Amino acid sequence: MSRFSRIGFILAAAGSAIGLGNVWKFPYMTGQNGGGAFVAIFLLSVVFIGLTVFLAEMILGRTSEKNPVSTYESLAPHGGRYWKYAGFMILSGVLILSFYSVVVGWLIHYIFVSLSGLPSSVSEAQGVFGELVSESIFTQVFFHFLVIGYCGYILTQGVKQGIEKINMILMPLLFLIFIALLFYALSMDSFGKSLAFMFTPHWEKINANVVLMSVGQAFFTLSLGVGTIMTYSASLPKKGNFVSSALYVAFLDTLLAVVAGLVIFTFLFEFGSDPSGGPGLVFISLPVIFAQMGLVGQLISLLFFIALLFAGITSAISLAEPLLGYLIERRSWKRSKAVWAVMGVSYALGVLAILGGSKAYGESLKWGGKSIFDWLDFGSSALLMPLAGVALCIFVGFVLDKNRVYGMFGGYMPPFFFKIWLFCVRFVAPVAIFIILIQGLRG
Ligand code: PFF
Ligand code: NA
Repeated sequence: MSRFSRIGFILAAAGSAIGLGNVWKFPYMTGQNGGGAFVAIFLLSVVFIGLTVFLAEMILGRTSEKNPVSTYESLAPHGGRYWKYAGFMILSGVLILSFYSVVVGWLIHYIFVSLSGLPSSVSEAQGVFGELVSESIFTQVFFHFLVIGYCGYILTQGVKQGIEKINMILMPLLFLIFIALLFYALSMDSFGKSLAFMFTPHWEKINANVVLMSVGQAFFTLSLGVGTIMTYSASLPKKGNFVSSALYVAFLDTLLAVVAGLVIFTFLFEFGSDPSGGPGLVFISLPVIFAQMGLVGQLISLLFFIALLFAGITSAISLAEPLLGYLIERRSWKRSKAVWAVMGVSYALGVLAILGGSKAYGESLKWGGKSIFDWLDFGSSALLMPLAGVALCIFVGFVLDKNRVYGMFGGYMPPFFFKIWLFCVRFVAPVAIFIILIQGLRG
């Protein structure tokens, strides 16, 4: 069995964690929810809920060295007759992958837009984006195909030669690009304003909804509830402080979200734009600003979308791996067969999502008032992922023996922190995630 190196694991898990969630979702959520208040609650959620569940997934994967279904089955009392079903959270990875990779495909389109000429007004930018998602079915299907095909190719190479290698290349490049962007933003007058926007908590802006959104975001951004972290942890090096690896991953993931936010808001403020643009922030507001920055702006735009593409690819890959592990280990499928079957399903679902977003077929592909895109997102982020999170916390917090769980940390968890962590696994995290689940179901 091939294992990650220590740095390989950190970069692969960070590669999974750092994605569209950091550079797209986090900034627009921060913008919509008034800045500092959202950021403060988000940071707390990362530490007390995100990191808690992250470590829970890690110890299970590391102990069993198997796919999530077999992990639950082998660790549960009574042969895991029922608990193995908790392992089927791996299916949400495929659901997410199918629309996540469509959005990654849009990034390729925006790389071309950066090269060929950026939209110079908001209405023009809305036109570019609107045309892509509602008219250009072929363009989307094609770029989606490239993304799925490339990720599939990487995955056929296995953990070491595929996943570890691509992350060892793309993640340092991603960091370099963001360091460059940060320095550029630092040279602008509005950097201070951006900093104040993100770090001055306006407590009066906090309400139940802000709390729910930040907990959900902490969960999504750390790639939890899909079995990804569990699956990557099955290939952890035999020795080494994996608890500190988890801290590095959570730190890098948070850092990248914060830096992305700082950079984006600096640009927005510098050109008198509004931070509360919602999902269109990256695809509509930003390109207009890049256009106003002339040639430098074009270069920045190019780098920005390339970085986002790298972030997206390394996350997309990680979404498929848990199910691959299951098919290879439990169904004895050859790796390449498993890869192309999973990628094929994601591709087909993605094409449906594209059709559902188009003007031509959109209306006829709606069901219960939701588009296919919305259904895939709802089924995974609102339903399966939180469900998997609650199940995981109950399993680790109550089903498994406390001393055994302590042992799973292999001496890398100081007893004092173990107590705090156990309290979070038993009460803080499951209750918070359960509330998200209920809230999500109510719409
Ligand atoms: N963490 C990724 C992001 O922030 O974009 C998304 C993600 C990847 C979620 C892998 C879940 C997962 F298993
Ligand atoms: Na993330």
